[in-house]
This record gives sequence, C-alpha cells and structure tokens, in this order.
Amino acid sequence: MTASARGWRVSYHRGAEYEIRKCAELFNPSNESLLSVGRRRRSRRFVVVDENFHRLHSGAIRRYFADNEVDVRIVSVPAGEPNKSVEAYVSLLDALDQFPIDRRDEPIIAIGGGVITDLTGFVAGTYRRGVPHIRVPTTLMGYVDASVGIKTGVNLRGHKNRVGAFTPPARVLLDRSFLATLPRRHILNGVCEVFKLAVISDLALFEKLEAHGPDCIAAHFQDEPGLWILDRSIQRMLDELQLNLFEDELARKMDFGHTFSYGLETCADSQCLHGEAVLIDVLVSSTLAQSRGLLKRSELDRIVRLAFALDIIPPLHSLDPPALWESLLERTRHRNGWQRVPLPHGIGKCTFVNDVQQDEVRTSCVELMALSRV
Ligand SMILES: NC(=O)c1ccc[n+]([C@@H]2O[C@H](COP(=O)([O-])OP(=O)(O)OC[C@H]3O[C@@H](n4cnc5c(N)ncnc54)[C@H](O)[C@@H]3O)[C@@H](O)[C@H]2O)c1
Repeated sequence: MTASARGWRVSYHRGAEYEIRKCAELFNPSNESLLSVGRRRRSRRFVVVDENFHRLHSGAIRRYFADNEVDVRIVSVPAGEPNKSVEAYVSLLDALDQFPIDRRDEPIIAIGGGVITDLTGFVAGTYRRGVPHIRVPTTLMGYVDASVGIKTGVNLRGHKNRVGAFTPPARVLLDRSFLATLPRRHILNGVCEVFKLAVISDLALFEKLEAHGPDCIAAHFQDEPGLWILDRSIQRMLDELQLNLFEDELARKMDFGHTFSYGLETCADSQCLHGEAVLIDVLVSSTLAQSRGLLKRSELDRIVRLAFALDIIPPLHSLDPPALWESLLERTRHRNGWQRVPLPHGIGKCTFVNDVQQDEVRTSCVELMALSRV
C-alpha cells in the first residue's frame, strides 16, 4: 500500500491455480478424487447434480458418500438453457444456506453439463463471497470447454451469461465414461466446439477429425482416437485460456464462434443448443474470411465438407442476416467498443478484424446457404 497526501493506493495481486485431473470410476468408494480437496473426516458436502445424470447414477453417488462417511446433501437440478437462470441460482443458494458448510474445507461439488457447472460455479463464487467448488463435467461440451476455464454465470432477460463471475474451480475431475450415455444430439453439440477449436487454432486436430471424427462420435469418444481428440481439445483450450484467464485482453481466439450467433440458444424460437449456435457462427465467419482472401476457396470447401461428414451442419435456410448483425453489435459492446472478430487465416490460424460491414454479413449468409445446398 502506498500513501500520499491525497489518499491511499491499495494493490494486491491474486493468481489462480487449479488442477484438471483425468480419472476413472469416479464413484467407486475407494476412489479418493471427489474428496481430494478439503476435509474428509467428519465433513459435509453439498452436491449439485444434473437431473438426467442423477437418474442414471443416484445410487452410486449416494453410496460413494455413505461409504466414505461424509454427510451429503444432493440437489438434483434440471439442465438446459432455460434453467441457467437467476431463479435457479437463488433456489440453489437457499438450499445451500440450509445445509451450512465450512467456508474453506467443504467444497461444493457440481456434477453435470455446462449449465450445471456454470450455475453451481456462480453459486460457489458468490456464497459467503466465495467457497471452493469441484466440477465434474458429464457432457462433451462440459468436458472440453465449460468445466476447464473459470467463467461462471447465469442468463438474464434472454441475455446469455449476463450475470456471472470469474470463479476458478478448486479442481476439475474428468471421467470420460460419463459421455457414454449422452444423447447423440449433445455429443454433436460438443463436437461443434471441438470443430471450432480445430478451425481457429489447430490443423492437426482438424485432420484427426477428418480421419476419425465420425467413428469417435459413434463410439461417444470411448476409444483411442477419441481420447486423443479430447486431450488435444483441452490442451488447445488451455493454451489460450491460461495466458488470458481473466480476459484482460479482449481479442480472444476462443471467441471464434461467438460473434454472429450470440444468444441464439436463449431465443425461444431457435431451439438451438450452444454448440449449434457456435457452429453457425463458425460457418458464417469462415465464409466471410474466404471472401476477404483469408481462407482459400479449397479451405472453405474443406471446412464445410468436414461439418457435413460430422453431421453437425445446422439448418441454414433460416439464417437471418439482420439478427447476425445485431449480435455483432452486441458483441462489440461486450468487447469494449471494438469488433475484435476472430477469423480463420488458413485452417488452424487466427486473425482479428475490426471492420466487418453489414453487407458482408448478408453476402456471407447467402453464399453459405448456397454452399450448404451443394
Ligand atoms: N463457462 C464456460 O466457459 C462455458 C463454455 C462453453 C459452454 N458453456 C455453457 O454451457 C452450457 C451448455 O452446456 P451443455 O451443452 O453441457 O448443456 P446442459 O448442461 O444443458 O446438458 C445437456 C443435456 O445433457 C443431459 N446430460 C448431462 N450429462 C449427461 C449424461 N452423462 N448422460 C445423459 N444425459 C446427460 C442434461 O440433462 C441435458 O439435458 C451453455 O449454457 C453454455 O453457455 C460455458
């Protein structure tokens, strides 16, 4: 602290450190991972579990804590975008407050997809101004993306993640076997994020998807090329996030896919999942990049061909250029007045632009609709 005649200047720098640990048989009572943070003896845990996942694993979860003699309160919560709400947040806070936990030694545990880990992480980040939490992703979206960073939050009045915080988890536990029961649409939803990562940051990942993507999808990523793709995606994600964990820099490669279709999934008419909205953006952005000479025509064709092969191409007939433009304007405010639009500059490389015109967005939509009909 420095003092002067005019007042005081306070300065305190706090970092973030957490481990993302791969594990198997997470609910085997002899597996210590879930209790590896905080106190074990005579302790309590507040556990928030995705409702559908809970239906499949409630017995195993309950047995795990009983066998380890931990006093547990399990709250089963419905997922899906409409449940990532202020109301759900308040209701979880209420439940937590009726099951008091020690502030440092009894971490909250979130088990579910991105909706559950974003929501529970926000509860953990704000209850008593912050208690530790552990994340256990059970969807592909959660596994490669939502659980590994530090962003948490809920939607407000149709605006995605409008209320939230940077809340580093105490630990992230990855058990790939949970993906086995995920419905195909949600596997594909996660694949859209992997596809995004490949196009903007990793040619080798793109090539692996070309060679093995459809088989990995069929096997729900339970076999060897699937493991490689999952590990590589997390590595790429962390390469980007770790350098800019608190988003001091607003031009972010990982914002690829989040410019033109922001909030599509909170719009009741669209029925879009998060990854599906991201994919629409990836395709529009890639078409726009091609028209600017950043991508070769053959590269754009290759991107569209892979999206078809992975079976992730969304219905594009109803692309709405004015809505995409509105989304860009909204994102420009979010990015503090500059567009900072990430575009692929060749497959696997990124550049940022600040001068996208409304006409360009419209032309890209028309071209993309034509391309996707070929
Ligand atoms: N914090 C971040 O950095 C970040 C990054 C990416 C996405 N997100 C957020 O993640 C959310 C989307 O997450 P999501 O796609 O995981 O959706 P989700 O959490 O709604 O889960 C999708 C569906 O899968 C079901 N489910 C979950 N695990 C299952 C399993 N193992 N077996 C069977 N069914 C299962 C759920 O009940 C739900 O119906 C969005 O709100 C998005 O904004 C956050």
